[in-house]
Order: sequence, then structure tokens, then C-alpha cells
Amino acid sequence: EPLDLVVRNARVATASDVFDADIGIQGGRIVSLGRGLPAGRREIDAAGRVVTPGGVDAHCHLDQPMAPPVRMADDFDTGTRSAACGGTTTVIPFAAQEKGQSLRAAVDDYHRRAEGKAHVDYAFHLIVSDPTPQVLNEELPALIAEGYTSFKVYMTYDDLKLDDGQILDVLAVARQHGAMAMIHAENADAIEWLSKRLEAAGRTAPRFHAHARPMLVEREATHRAISLAELVDVPILIVHVSGREAVEQIRWARAHGLKVFAETCPQYLFLTAADLGIDDSYQGARCVCSPPPRDASNQRVIWDGLNDGLFTVFSSDHAPFNYEGDAGKKPGGEEVTFRHIPNGIPGIETRLPLLYSAGVLGGRLTLERFVELTATNPAKAYGLHPRKGTIAIGSDADLVIWDEREFVLNNSHLHHAVDHTPYAGQTLRAWPAVTLIGGEVVWDGAFHARPGRGRFLTCGAPSLVPQRRGNPS
Ligand code: URP
Ligand code: ZN
Ligand code: ZN
Ligand code: ZN
Repeated sequence: EPLDLVVRNARVATASDVFDADIGIQGGRIVSLGRGLPAGRREIDAAGRVVTPGGVDAHCHLDQPMAPPVRMADDFDTGTRSAACGGTTTVIPFAAQEKGQSLRAAVDDYHRRAEGKAHVDYAFHLIVSDPTPQVLNEELPALIAEGYTSFKVYMTYDDLKLDDGQILDVLAVARQHGAMAMIHAENADAIEWLSKRLEAAGRTAPRFHAHARPMLVEREATHRAISLAELVDVPILIVHVSGREAVEQIRWARAHGLKVFAETCPQYLFLTAADLGIDDSYQGARCVCSPPPRDASNQRVIWDGLNDGLFTVFSSDHAPFNYEGDAGKKPGGEEVTFRHIPNGIPGIETRLPLLYSAGVLGGRLTLERFVELTATNPAKAYGLHPRKGTIAIGSDADLVIWDEREFVLNNSHLHHAVDHTPYAGQTLRAWPAVTLIGGEVVWDGAFHARPGRGRFLTCGAPSLVPQRRGNPS
């Protein structure tokens, strides 16, 4: 019985090794790695090319309902199409609970949004915005047991934020049931206070978004999140870390033996606050995200953290909104004050090529570290490893064959449904030549659509740290 597919002469990169091998694929999985494998029914020649595990994007927002007239541009069809063309083969978007809604209803709703549409495999993180006794004692433990083993909590945004007592309550559930808590760390009251003062002074252009969210509001909340996790004695992962001050808090926590993991995103390497505007023009609305991008010296701090192990995962935080429609304004057609610009920028397709280009080819990251940050660690953090995130016998045959060539990015290269990319004008030095999902060619310069190809993944226990065994004390 010949192999279904052999990827021949690959320069295979994992989080631990880079070696030359053929990759044998049968039934959607990797079944052999070696030199001179027998002929497969299909062959792909990867001679001279690096092959990495398909990317795992563990932080992206797809088809999340927003307050009208704002809507997300990407649903599970266009969002996962874009992911696949950029080498991402697994996504973990959010199933967000609205206040007053049961968590179960939120999960059911997002399954309906994804089913029959996704082109890549997907799991869900939960967003817990209303930790009622019912949610804490019944729904959350039941959902964790069913394979929703991670959730995000917010310290800011009126619709989502929890107070410290609520955060302690959900962290205690994470501890007891072995889930991974992700925390958005910004001080909501400080942001509100600053925003009101800026507005009162007529400072309402997009660039003032950054003035309303200086690094200290992130630093304070990061420190508080770390302290709350220490009190409960549970690992946490701080999402979208933007710069020096939050990094210092995380280094401090690590030095004290605390299990604090951290994520950063492309916007903190490739954008600065100047992208929100240097004057009061509305163009900068496109780059509004939270925390905001900082400056060049903070970009260097983020690069250092990616290189030296401070960061565990590198995610896109893809949050797709259109601005060009209706004369360059937000959906609805009007310019709004910075506080009402939807937060978030697109990046699900550019995440891997940007980091490969500037990191690996730019001499800032080893290939192994690139794989660890973009695939292996996110799969481990959220209980999908070793099925996802590595090239090993028995793992899903989700692979990226890299083409190293230079070009200047613009939005017409991309496959999302967003009318802009904040990374237009960046010089890229690599792009996926081929993306394989379960041994199927999904992207090879053309996108091979098969909505519903993507399967829902139940997540196991996070495996970045040893699982607690026996009864929690
Ligand atoms: O600005 C951002 N990051 N928007 C997406 C939502 C979030 O907080 O991750
Ligand atoms: Zn967030
Ligand atoms: Zn996000
Ligand atoms: Zn093709």
C-alpha cells in the first residue's frame, strides 16, 4: 500500500530540530519521516525549501457580533481562507459570552457560525463576561470537561470587564479544573478617566487612543493579574503584551517562580503609535487596537522577549473591521471619536510571513524558535499538542512549505474580507508556497476552497506545565 503523499527532500523544522527528510503522509497524518521513502501516490518536491508545522493562531476574532452598525468583516469562511493562504492551519477564535447569556448558548451560537464554513481546523476559547454562580459552578466546569479548556477574561471594556473578585472566582475554576486563563490586562478606570479628559479637551482623533492607554495602564493591570494568579496559585497567560513595562512585570513574575506565560502580536513589532496618525486625520483609525502599538524602542523589547523565551506564543489578534466603505469611515459612514472606533486590526494571514521574514530571515530568531512561538507552544498552551503544532509521527499532516522571495505587501495579496492591511508597504521575504491541511493542498499560490474542511477540535489539558494530579489542596 503506497503512501497517500510524500513531501520529498524537505528541510524539516520543529521547535527542537532542523533536519533534512521526506515526510510520508497517510490518512491525513504523518506516518513516516526519513530519507528515501518509497514513492507515494502523490509527491511534492520540497527540495531546498523549509517545511514547518502549519501555524496555530491561538488569538483571533472571527464573526463576533458587535454593536450595530459595526460588524466584523471576516466570518469563518473568509477568515479561515485568509489563515490558510498565510500558512495557518489551526485557529482558536473566541466564543464570547454576552452579559446575561449562558456560556452554553454562546458556544452553541459560535458552532453555528463555524460549521460548514471553516477551511482550517478550529477550537474555541471561551470569553467569560458574566461569571454567575451557575457559570462558575456548572457551565464552566462542564465545558472544560468537554474540551473548551481555555478562556479569556478582560480587565477593560465595559461590556466584558470583570472586577478583581470576579477574576479571582474564574481563576479558581481554572485551577480546580486545569484550564488555561488568558487575561487582557489594562486598567479600565484609568483609561476611562484619561479618555474623558481627552474628549473634554477636544482631543478626539484616532491618535488619542494611544494617549488614553499609556503603558502604565497596561503595567498596572499586568501586575494585578499576576498578583491575583499568585493568590489563587494558578498559571495564567497575559495576551497581547505591547512593550517594556508589561514585559518587566512578567520578567519579575518569572524570576519569582510564578507560572506566568505571555503572548505578543505582529502589531507590537511592525507598527508604532505614529500609525494611529501624526495629525488629526482619520486614516489612523485602521490601526486602532488595544493595547496600542508603542515605539521603536518598545519594538526592540518585544523582539528580545521573543528571542529569549519571555514570550510563549505569537498570535495575530486578528480583529477585522472595514473602513474604506462609506467614504473611508467606519461602518455607518461617520468619523467617530477615538473611544468609539472598534478595537482591533486584521493580521491572520500576515502573522507567519511577517515573523518568518523579519525574524528568521532577518537574523532575529532561530527557525526552531519561530516554530515554537507560532505552532508548538500555542498547541501546548491550549491542549492540542502533539496532534497540532509539530512535525512528528502521528501528528496531523498540517504543513507549510516556504518560498523565500522578496516582495512588497499590499492588501490585494490577501484573502481576508477586510479592505486594508496595516502592513501594506512592508517588505516580505517569504510566503507559503504550499499549505497542507490533513495532507490536502489548501494553498499553492491558488486557494482550494472547501468550506467545512475545517474540523472542530476539542482541546485537552494545557501541557505547558505539568498537570496537577489528585485533589487540589
Ligand atoms: O484591540 C484589540 N486587541 N481588539 C481585539 C479584542 C481584544 O481585546 O483582543
Ligand atoms: Zn484583548
Ligand atoms: Zn483579541
Ligand atoms: Zn493548486
